[in-house]
Amino acid sequence: MNAIFCLFLAVIRAVNTQTTLLVANGLPSPPASVVPFAPQPLGNAALWQQAIALDAAENITGNHVNQYFYSSVAWWQSLENSSNSYLSGSLGSTDTGPYMSQLLQAIQNYPTRYDQEQASDPNQISIVITQAPEQTIKSFGASGAWWPNDLFYFPSEQQQNLSQLLFSKQWLCLSGYRYNMGATGDHDNVTVRTGGVPVSRGVESFMNTDGTYDWTRDGPGMYYLRAAEAANVSSITFFVNAAPSGLNATTAFLAPCGGTLKTTEIQAFVKYIETVLVYWADQGITIDYISPMNEPDDSFSSCGQEGMAVPQSIRTAVFQQIRAALIASNSTGAKAAKIMGDETSQIASQALMHYGNWLPETLTGQYIDAVAVHMYDWPDDATLLNYGQLVRNSSAGGSPPPVKMTEISSFQSASGMRSEWGWTGPSIMSAQYDPTMSSALDLARMIWQWLTLVNAESFDWWTAVSTMIPCSPSTTTSCATTINNGNGWNDALIYIDPDYQTTKDYNFYLTKRFWVFRHFTRLHRPGSVRYDISNEVLPYGTVAVASLGTNNVWQATFINRNSTAQIVTMNLPGTGGRIQRLIVTTDDVDWGNVEWPRVASNNDISLKLPGRGVLTVQFSVSGPLAERQAVTDGGQSGVPSTSTAGT
Ligand SMILES: *[C@@H]1O[C@H](CO)[C@@H](O)[C@H](O)[C@H]1NC(C)=O
Ligand SMILES: *[C@@H]1O[C@H](CO)[C@@H](O)[C@H](O)[C@H]1NC(C)=O
Ligand SMILES: *[C@@H]1O[C@H](CO)[C@@H](O)[C@H](O)[C@H]1NC(C)=O
Ligand SMILES: *[C@@H]1O[C@H](CO)[C@@H](O)[C@H](O)[C@H]1NC(C)=O
Ligand SMILES: *[C@@H]1O[C@H](CO)[C@@H](O)[C@H](O)[C@H]1NC(C)=O
Ligand SMILES: *[C@@H]1O[C@H](CO)[C@@H](O)[C@H](O)[C@H]1NC(C)=O
Ligand SMILES: *[C@@H]1O[C@H](CO)[C@@H](O)[C@H](O)[C@H]1NC(C)=O
Ligand SMILES: *[C@@H]1O[C@H](CO)[C@@H](O)[C@H](O)[C@H]1NC(C)=O
Ligand SMILES: *[C@@H]1O[C@H](CO)[C@@H](O)[C@H](O)[C@H]1NC(C)=O
Repeated sequence: MNAIFCLFLAVIRAVNTQTTLLVANGLPSPPASVVPFAPQPLGNAALWQQAIALDAAENITGNHVNQYFYSSVAWWQSLENSSNSYLSGSLGSTDTGPYMSQLLQAIQNYPTRYDQEQASDPNQISIVITQAPEQTIKSFGASGAWWPNDLFYFPSEQQQNLSQLLFSKQWLCLSGYRYNMGATGDHDNVTVRTGGVPVSRGVESFMNTDGTYDWTRDGPGMYYLRAAEAANVSSITFFVNAAPSGLNATTAFLAPCGGTLKTTEIQAFVKYIETVLVYWADQGITIDYISPMNEPDDSFSSCGQEGMAVPQSIRTAVFQQIRAALIASNSTGAKAAKIMGDETSQIASQALMHYGNWLPETLTGQYIDAVAVHMYDWPDDATLLNYGQLVRNSSAGGSPPPVKMTEISSFQSASGMRSEWGWTGPSIMSAQYDPTMSSALDLARMIWQWLTLVNAESFDWWTAVSTMIPCSPSTTTSCATTINNGNGWNDALIYIDPDYQTTKDYNFYLTKRFWVFRHFTRLHRPGSVRYDISNEVLPYGTVAVASLGTNNVWQATFINRNSTAQIVTMNLPGTGGRIQRLIVTTDDVDWGNVEWPRVASNNDISLKLPGRGVLTVQFSVSGPLAERQAVTDGGQSGVPSTSTAGT
């Protein structure tokens, strides 16, 4: 999770009765609000003045999205200012100076965020899948932080039931799982504290405070990691929020948060990572990736969660030394682990400005196997295209690395104006509990963005389970299914009662995000190759993702944000098309089988894309684009259901 979260929590508490746009401390109030004119400068006045000048020159205020421009810039600036001071120094400072022009470029992208080609009359055009294969899909996953600490207190039958919910074919069938390698020792000076939640967001490190190892620690986390391994989840990542407190490797003495990794301690930090990977690989955990840093621009000084800053100038050295350690390792399992980084939290304000300082060098040395990034500023489509180009540019002649979007959550669902596209920009991070299709459709479009605009090989939701439901569902019956604006957080796919220790309510409350994500986790399996369905052939408000599985079954997932159903014609590639399955998720239905259309002799089918719904059609064909070489899919591979049509 990110810096913004903690900061924002504090802000929400301070301003939750606020109705005007700007509060006394200079932070714009959530949610994404209309800011029709330039507010007072925040923090770095010179930066602000340049944004205003840019607006005047480019007539951004005249643009149809101008109302988001100022709130986005204001919010973004204040976050940067508060959390890591990148924008609060003088213009000539090392932090601010070199990034100024890139920053302004990023601001310039805001007006185009919603622009997208659309069919003028979708009923006239058959939807087709383009001929050229795109990326191979690796995984759709979620993180094991920090709910295993809560599940520890659940009855063992329910602990097992959760494993089923997450990993079995009958339920979510995650193809990726991110295990949080903890940093909290047994006798730390400073511990992670989260008010109002039964257990904290600290995770027991395998290293004690005195620097010795204890492999019995983090039992709850290991329970679910072993469950993922047992279910053959194909992509398991160990991710590190902070160096363990007992290593004394950061500037925070004996604390799992608030420090900066010291250059002199990289070697000790890498040795610790290798020791942990070797131990668990030798115990039979198949470690696909190690991610040694998380949101490294932030030290997480509030200690609401584990974290450490890693200066841009030493990131390459960390990756380089991990690469060397794994190559030299005598453990086959550890040797096979791939490296990803650097899990930067935001695109426009961080990745676009910082990658130049570490990524080209890291890629040239082949120190990472994939670029991992978060999207906590909810980039618009143009910014994401730009981001994809930057990654390609950074690979200096070599083949560009795969991109993995490894964490997102906690956005306010779109409503009202522009609801057909969802909001973008950093200001949409907001306290809210929305278990409905509104939030699920936003998530689906984000998945579409990463798969089609950046050709990402994986997409991970943040945490699988959380207590951030703003009421006790066993005492207030409607609370699990009702939108609550300003309270709770959209950080999970499944919720548990925050008061479970008193209510003894050990139920799992599933959101529509769970069901919509299942279209991707369950149907677009690892090894599937993605193909484009261009927006021009789709009705306004609809986007689509298609892939061909290793079992030679196609799936096309349509995301329709319009509240009206759309009737479309799709031409299946090849000849002799056979429908295998048709699944919908809507306001009314979690996972429904719908009646199959007849396949016409020209391989056309008619599809009714439900309003505010996600529909996946699975089919097989013969002729061109019918087959590809099969590769194994971790044992979970879905043999398409042969159940009867129309049930
Ligand atoms: C930004 O930083 C400046 C300089 O440290 C400070 O004066 C200002 O109050 C900060 N603004 C916000 C919104 O944090
Ligand atoms: C700015 O854009 C608006 C909306 O497109 C337009 O009406 C207005 O004339 C433009 N102003 C200038 C100075 O170009
Ligand atoms: C676990 O799941 C099973 C089967 O779905 C159900 O019968 C049982 O009640 C669940 N256990 C608990 C403790 O709720
Ligand atoms: C942490 O503990 C060490 C050794 O016990 C002590 O020297 C140091 O002052 C403590 N730091 C804090 C912030 O409590
Ligand atoms: C996992 O894979 C192993 C080996 O292929 C297989 O024996 C086992 O049944 C699989 N387990 C599941 C849950 O798919
Ligand atoms: C870190 O510092 C503590 C307190 O001085 C000490 O007990 C511990 O051994 C140190 N850890 C390492 C790995 O040096
Ligand atoms: C690997 O094994 C060899 C031979 O036993 C040993 O010399 C070497 O130090 C080991 N390497 C590591 C990284 O443990
Ligand atoms: C990528 O490189 C091209 C050619 O040098 C350049 O024009 C473009 O601005 C770069 N784009 C990004 C996002 O770095
Ligand atoms: C929703 O679809 C209808 C056609 O079914 C169309 O007239 C309308 O403009 C669409 N609304 C939006 C917001 O896209």
